[in-house]
Amino acid sequence: MSSATAPNEPAVAGLPVPVNCKTVGRVTVDNALLSARGVNVFYSGKQAIQEVSIDISRNEVLAMIGPSGCGKSTFLRCLNRMNDTIEGARVTGSIVLDGQDIYDKRQDVVQLRARVGMVFQKPNPFPKSIYENVAYGPRIHGLAADRVELDEIVHTSLQRAGLWDEVKDRLNNPGTSLSGGQQQRLCIARTIAVNPEVILMDEPCSALDPIATARIEDLIDELRASYAIAIVTHSMQQAARVSQRTAYFHLGDLIEVGETDRIFTNPRHKLTEDYITGRFG
Ligand SMILES: Nc1ncnc2c1ncn2[C@@H]1O[C@H](COP(=O)(O)OP(=O)(O)O)[C@@H](O)[C@H]1O
Ligand SMILES: [Mg+2]
Repeated sequence: MSSATAPNEPAVAGLPVPVNCKTVGRVTVDNALLSARGVNVFYSGKQAIQEVSIDISRNEVLAMIGPSGCGKSTFLRCLNRMNDTIEGARVTGSIVLDGQDIYDKRQDVVQLRARVGMVFQKPNPFPKSIYENVAYGPRIHGLAADRVELDEIVHTSLQRAGLWDEVKDRLNNPGTSLSGGQQQRLCIARTIAVNPEVILMDEPCSALDPIATARIEDLIDELRASYAIAIVTHSMQQAARVSQRTAYFHLGDLIEVGETDRIFTNPRHKLTEDYITGRFG
């Protein structure tokens, strides 16, 4: 990769931004936790996203918006190598987490997905009890020395996911016995239980009613204190409510990145403006 930086980018701790980066706005942050540079994804040779460069930092929610099919999920999946699981998918460019290349041959992918957890559109609890849904990850990662410690992790994770009070008396019931919104919070508890640094969310509320959605949005705001969060949403209102930075994608390009307030009030790129004013999407 070229070491030259684009002229409009200040020097930062993260990776240099490729000179061919056409994204409008600052793609870097001062304390990058995760840095993507020049990322391309191909599905069976057909390119889905091109030359995406952006940083993600702690204590911040980054919203990714754009018309359906523009590559939001594809890019999100690069960040914890979920595209590895898709037949025919190929990723190029570089992504570093805490200075380490996550695509390095020596990277343990199971470990990576604990550090960069993911919450999906449709709540997908394991066909196990509420307790086991949360205990599973800590157990396979050896995070608890004994049952007391495991209980503690389950308790804390459910508490942080805002679910403890609702489930504490029925931890042995199946995860699937919960409502949709509770299931999604269970999936968030499961993600938190393995001490992630980054939480990726792909339209986490699109299967939920407005009240369950509001609870998840409040939760995202609380979780920001402890994690870096990247959320894909098709709802601009949601992006405006939960995020501090917004990235606008269009046909596989990262068009514009900026502070959420600025993106929604004063977009600099015509395509961003067209999208947020509802001219297409
Ligand atoms: N598993 C896949 N196999 C082939 N093409 C895919 C696959 N997933 C996504 N694509 C294609 O990649 C492009 C981006 O899709 P996606 O990342 O799902 O967009 P978004 O999440 O923004 O709706 C689309 O053209 C889509 O058809
Ligand atoms: Mg998607």
